[in-house]
Amino acid sequence: MGRVQGFFSATGVLLLLQLGVVIAQNSSTWLTLSGNAPAIVAKGGFSGLFPDSSSDAYNFVPLTSSSDTVLWCDVQLTKDGVGVCIPNVKLDNCTNIAYFYQTGQSDYLVNGVNTTGWFSVDYTMNDLSNVSLIQAIYSRSDAFDSNNYGILAVEDVARNFNPPGLWLNIQHDIFYAQHNLNMTTYVLDVSRRVPVDYVSSPELAFLSRIAPMLSRSNTKLIFRFLDQSISEPSTDQTYGSLLNNLTFIKTFASGILVPKSFIWPVTADNYMLPYSSLVLDAHRAGLEIYAADFANDHTLSYNYSYDPLAEYLAFIDNGVFSVDGVVTDFPVTPSEARGTPLIISHNGGSGDYPDCTDLAYQKAVDGGVNFIDCPIQVTQDGIAICMSSIDLVADTTVTNSPFANRFSSIPEVQDTQGIFTFNLTWDEIQMNLQPKISSPELRYSLVRNPRSANAGTFMRLSDFLSFAKGKPIAGILINIEHATFMVEQLGYGVIDAVISALQVAGYDNQTALQVMIMSTNSSVLIEFQEKTNYTLVYQVDESIRGADSSTLADIKKFADAVAIDRQSVYPESAQFITKPTDIVPKFQAAGLAVYVYVFRNEFVAQPWDFFSDATVEINSYVEGVRVDGIITDFPATAARYKRNSCRNMGTNAPNFMSPVQGGALLQLVAPQGMPPALAPMPVLNDSDVVEPPLPPVSPRHAPAPSAVTASPPTQPSNALQLMASIFTSLATILSAAILA
Ligand SMILES: *[C@@H]1O[C@H](CO)[C@@H](O)[C@H](O)[C@H]1NC(C)=O
Ligand SMILES: *[C@@H]1O[C@H](CO)[C@@H](O)[C@H](O)[C@H]1NC(C)=O
Ligand SMILES: *[C@@H]1O[C@H](CO)[C@@H](O)[C@H](O)[C@H]1NC(C)=O
Ligand SMILES: *[C@@H]1O[C@H](CO)[C@@H](O)[C@H](O)[C@H]1NC(C)=O
Ligand SMILES: *[C@@H]1O[C@H](CO)[C@@H](O)[C@H](O)[C@H]1NC(C)=O
Ligand SMILES: *[C@@H]1O[C@H](CO)[C@@H](O)[C@H](O)[C@H]1NC(C)=O
Ligand SMILES: *[C@@H]1O[C@H](CO)[C@@H](O)[C@H](O)[C@H]1NC(C)=O
Ligand SMILES: *[C@@H]1O[C@H](CO)[C@@H](O)[C@H](O)[C@H]1NC(C)=O
Ligand SMILES: *[C@@H]1O[C@H](CO)[C@@H](O)[C@H](O)[C@H]1NC(C)=O
Ligand SMILES: *[C@@H]1O[C@H](CO)[C@@H](O)[C@H](O)[C@H]1NC(C)=O
Ligand SMILES: *[C@@H]1O[C@H](CO)[C@@H](O)[C@H](O)[C@H]1NC(C)=O
Ligand SMILES: *[C@@H]1O[C@H](CO)[C@@H](O)[C@H](O)[C@H]1NC(C)=O
Repeated sequence: MGRVQGFFSATGVLLLLQLGVVIAQNSSTWLTLSGNAPAIVAKGGFSGLFPDSSSDAYNFVPLTSSSDTVLWCDVQLTKDGVGVCIPNVKLDNCTNIAYFYQTGQSDYLVNGVNTTGWFSVDYTMNDLSNVSLIQAIYSRSDAFDSNNYGILAVEDVARNFNPPGLWLNIQHDIFYAQHNLNMTTYVLDVSRRVPVDYVSSPELAFLSRIAPMLSRSNTKLIFRFLDQSISEPSTDQTYGSLLNNLTFIKTFASGILVPKSFIWPVTADNYMLPYSSLVLDAHRAGLEIYAADFANDHTLSYNYSYDPLAEYLAFIDNGVFSVDGVVTDFPVTPSEARGTPLIISHNGGSGDYPDCTDLAYQKAVDGGVNFIDCPIQVTQDGIAICMSSIDLVADTTVTNSPFANRFSSIPEVQDTQGIFTFNLTWDEIQMNLQPKISSPELRYSLVRNPRSANAGTFMRLSDFLSFAKGKPIAGILINIEHATFMVEQLGYGVIDAVISALQVAGYDNQTALQVMIMSTNSSVLIEFQEKTNYTLVYQVDESIRGADSSTLADIKKFADAVAIDRQSVYPESAQFITKPTDIVPKFQAAGLAVYVYVFRNEFVAQPWDFFSDATVEINSYVEGVRVDGIITDFPATAARYKRNSCRNMGTNAPNFMSPVQGGALLQLVAPQGMPPALAPMPVLNDSDVVEPPLPPVSPRHAPAPSAVTASPPTQPSNALQLMASIFTSLATILSAAILA
């Protein structure tokens, strides 16, 4: 092919991959168009094992693969206009229809080719009720064919498997139009009923017709390229010539899907040629580019030594470019290639700068964080701010400020007295207080970055949201506690305030950033679930050793992920760990991603088993128990681990990359030196999780009218208050000067 650049021709993939590691260490992000991790798209589910588009194929995806894996459905239309997921226009290719309707075949022109077979246009949904999906690839097991997998409608896939993303591939529009079935109407209709994240098609007329009709939705339109010599049926140009007109494709599509060989071509005897410039060209044209045809059991180029993981790395982590997604029959492998864990900051990069300040967030971003977090508190004048504690004593210099006398005792909030965010206005906080760096290991005299102990500026939620936009991160996490208190005692509807701040900041339609909401109170998440489509994280605020299965099912109803503490995974006794609990696989089997908090670098924060080495600890959680995310004060440490070139080496990994065995070190301790036996941690049950709904916001409690609305980014400050606080601080300075 003509698009090849002679850059790596003589160097070999190995060198390329090594180079990739080196370059990746400089950049905190993926080389995709958005900077986000490439998407994993499971074609017909885990179709490498189960019949394509069968319930087990779809079910198996979240059990084996990254929790954000998108489900792909090849849409065919029945005679009565129902969209069903069947991988081939010829039903006899992948179902047992020929057994039920022995003389039911027809001869139809499909893109001008006379084709004989069984077609969905000849059957109603009811006619197909006894037909089942079977294995279409002869080299794969047919053992599951006797499971009678019924044909699934598109809505069934959306509702039964609740995927984090749904991709509809419309391989044929003209063919269905010839049989008086309108694919355009169908796709518009179904996307009103269930979330459709991607629509792809190799038919240009179809995509450009539907593009304006879907322009106000979040659905991405993807133009699918077929072999370069084939003619695109609606324009009669070859796909090869359309490849030279990406700016035209960009007028109706947001991305393209190409056979993987367009990107890394191979010779006739299956050796890799140098990569083409296609990914770089597509990104330059503002198009995302997805690569198709990944399967672990297809013949790989010899350059990959039969290792499919090596192939994915060549597409997503080569140091030069990354495709924006891969379409695969074996979603488990790209999940490995893309790498866990997700790195979520804890109060920003709070290991180096005061919690939730601009400097802490910038540190997290520079370090390679995936999600930055904002714990929401509210000020007296109803402004949402990011602050790690509701008590300003914890993370500001309030006790050395004019407001040092504003202590009060609010038992609903905390047992001890405090100076609370809701007792000071935003201007009072911003103009009179300085941030104060956290020091969780102060009892061991370990302080953090003393030169920057009071550095940085406080952030309102609106400041945080504009900061995050355009940063090379996957998204943001908003943590909401004390919602009931805010509603009942302050008249502040924190949930609506957060939703409206996100809308005002354009998060619903203008950014590619994912929004996660975390709370320890299920009623908060349930309210978000009713009002938004954000990812919901349930934080368990006690150490647990297990969870009832009914409780797992309850949590799954309102959350996509859970956050649990480190002890719930590796229980600890006198700074030694014991065997891991089975809580991580249990949550994951229930369809919940598991994030673990809080990882800290100070050596006293880690049990002895991890050798005072934060990387050994992270590796044990990732390789030993396969957690999905790490919540950390030190995102750069987790990111350094993630980029470690010794990861993903399978059985060849060096000793220092194997997870620590829980309980191993304890066996070397003589009986008299043994720490006391652990008190058993509780098992999470329904009564821990089920909560009454949040009360409605009643304005009569409102401290100020502005309290019930979100603060727009540029709220005018109250001039009187401002003068008063300037005056107070001037007075303090003056009296200090007089006393000196
Ligand atoms: C693939 O391997 C062949 C044979 O060793 C080599 O000539 C070629 O350069 C390799 N391709 C790439 C892209 O490294
Ligand atoms: C990494 O960045 C530094 C400073 O920007 C630069 O000097 C160095 O060459 C970069 N390394 C690579 C491998 O790109
Ligand atoms: C079904 O179609 C695929 C793709 O064209 C082909 O590889 C496969 O051999 C076919 N299988 C059967 C059973 O016809
Ligand atoms: C298509 O193929 C079938 C079977 O080979 C044949 O009977 C039929 O006449 C063909 N139709 C056309 C339009 O060529
Ligand atoms: C499906 O099978 C059931 C039970 O054998 C039969 O009663 C029904 O008529 C069949 N439906 C169709 C559409 O063939
Ligand atoms: C199919 O429906 C779309 C809109 O729903 C319409 O624009 C188009 O003309 C229809 N096509 C045919 C062939 O009726
Ligand atoms: C959630 O997503 C669905 C499907 O994309 C959409 O119809 C709905 O409006 C969204 N809800 C909100 C609150 O954005
Ligand atoms: C790109 O496609 C458009 C629309 O078909 C056409 O007008 C234009 O001439 C094409 N440009 C090139 C360079 O082929
Ligand atoms: C702080 O606010 C709470 C709730 O509005 C109020 O009950 C308390 O008296 C206030 N404390 C001070 C010191 O202003
Ligand atoms: C995004 O949504 C906001 C609020 O719903 C709306 O005002 C704005 O016009 C939308 N912007 C775009 C580009 O759609
Ligand atoms: C649920 O757990 C709590 C705390 O561990 C415990 O007090 C309670 O008895 C448990 N309830 C049930 C029904 O097991
Ligand atoms: C969770 O929120 C509900 C509704 O506001 C409230 O009744 C409940 O006490 C809260 N639970 C906890 C543990 O704070």
